[in-house]
Amino acid sequence: MKSSIYFLTALVLTALTARAQEPDSTRKAFLAAQAIIKEQSEKDHKQMLEQLHITALRPGPSGNPEAPNAANVDESQASPYTRLPDPLVLKNGKKVTTAKQWWQQRRPEIVEDFDREIYGRVPKNLPKVTWEVISEKKEMNGDFPVITKTLQGHVDNSSYPAIKVDIELTLSTPANSTSPVPVMMSYGFRFPPGFRMPNPPATTLPAKPEPTWQQQLLAKGWGYAVIYPTSYQADNGAGLTKGIIGLVNKGQPRKPDDWGALRAWAWGASRALDYFETDKAVDARKVGIEGLSRYGKATAVTMAYEPRFAIAFVGSSGEGGVKIHRRKFGEQVENVAASGEYHWMAGNFIKYAGPLTPNDLPVDAHELVALCAPRPVFISSGSPKVEGNWVDAKGMFLGGAYAGPVYKLLGRKDMGTMEFPPIETALVDGDVAFRQHSGGHTTGPNWPTFLLFADRYFN
Ligand code: GCU
Repeated sequence: MKSSIYFLTALVLTALTARAQEPDSTRKAFLAAQAIIKEQSEKDHKQMLEQLHITALRPGPSGNPEAPNAANVDESQASPYTRLPDPLVLKNGKKVTTAKQWWQQRRPEIVEDFDREIYGRVPKNLPKVTWEVISEKKEMNGDFPVITKTLQGHVDNSSYPAIKVDIELTLSTPANSTSPVPVMMSYGFRFPPGFRMPNPPATTLPAKPEPTWQQQLLAKGWGYAVIYPTSYQADNGAGLTKGIIGLVNKGQPRKPDDWGALRAWAWGASRALDYFETDKAVDARKVGIEGLSRYGKATAVTMAYEPRFAIAFVGSSGEGGVKIHRRKFGEQVENVAASGEYHWMAGNFIKYAGPLTPNDLPVDAHELVALCAPRPVFISSGSPKVEGNWVDAKGMFLGGAYAGPVYKLLGRKDMGTMEFPPIETALVDGDVAFRQHSGGHTTGPNWPTFLLFADRYFN
């Protein structure tokens, strides 16, 4: 509870300070820009529906529990499906019994389904990225001296100079370290001027902040990095003809199986890892990835598709992340298929909000976790009381639990139970871990537990 409060407060204080200093014109400019983005996103969404020959979609439920069309939060109504796709049964109906069959036959089948229908295909010939260290400075983070590098990954845009793309990244490693260190890289949110956080109740203001996640890493002698996904792919449909997706498409709209923002963000994380492989301060075999919410989804996608990431800390990823798509609880496929969120996914994903249904999906989220196997994945959620039910904590737990058979086939350990545990129970004995902390929409309070889990692999 305490830590989530600290986290929230830090956010709120930042937001309130920003608001106090913010002139009205900044807020107005922000709202005007948002209106244009919304209109352009709706237009792009519409052209994708035309490509898919879809005329109508089922609307998703509301995230507001008071609304007449509020999302279902009644567990007895949550499982309209009778079965999930089996990660260990081939398309031809044969059972997978060896690791070789997994790697050579079944895994490629699952990847193909995720590529075509869910997250989209990453283009074959992607431009090169050249990393530049913009600045390097020695500084203190709490009690810890660190070397912080600010980096830019310049994307070669000679094929289409009208679009310029730079990946923004920072890396901090302990200044006193004599050997390469493990690094956790976080997907960092960046809010435009004029953006406002919702206000939590004033009674939750704490007295002093706990060690930040960065300081917890430094205390172990590890480093941290932050990558800013919106520096190379915008978080809206209007941006799909720009950023790395737009650059490769030469400013043209996507085809239905082209990559969406989640895969684009994951591509950037892989390029950051390319850089880490060249930096002597980093042990590139021990780099993990962390993210919350939409970046929790991106974290799961990154881990599934990039075998060089050693561990993942998937925060409140919800629908489109590791929550079972077929579960009727909290956010639904229909929400993600709508014009505000479809850009995360392949255009083809929209089909499952009409005429198809989530039950028609060829894969489900447990198979995304299975694609990460045998590498360790920690699935994190907040409390329904504070975070709400939109993310569907149990749906995310099941995403990890049903991936278990694949971990076991590969000689690793599953979560150890199919029973959704009480809040604050750490399921960390297997290679897929789960913990629901008692705070809000943050990974904050789960960092200490995640680090105990990560210790087993990194130390
Ligand atoms: C919305 C969205 C979620 C997403 C979240 C976030 O709530 O519906 O899918 O995870 O925003 O990124 O904060």
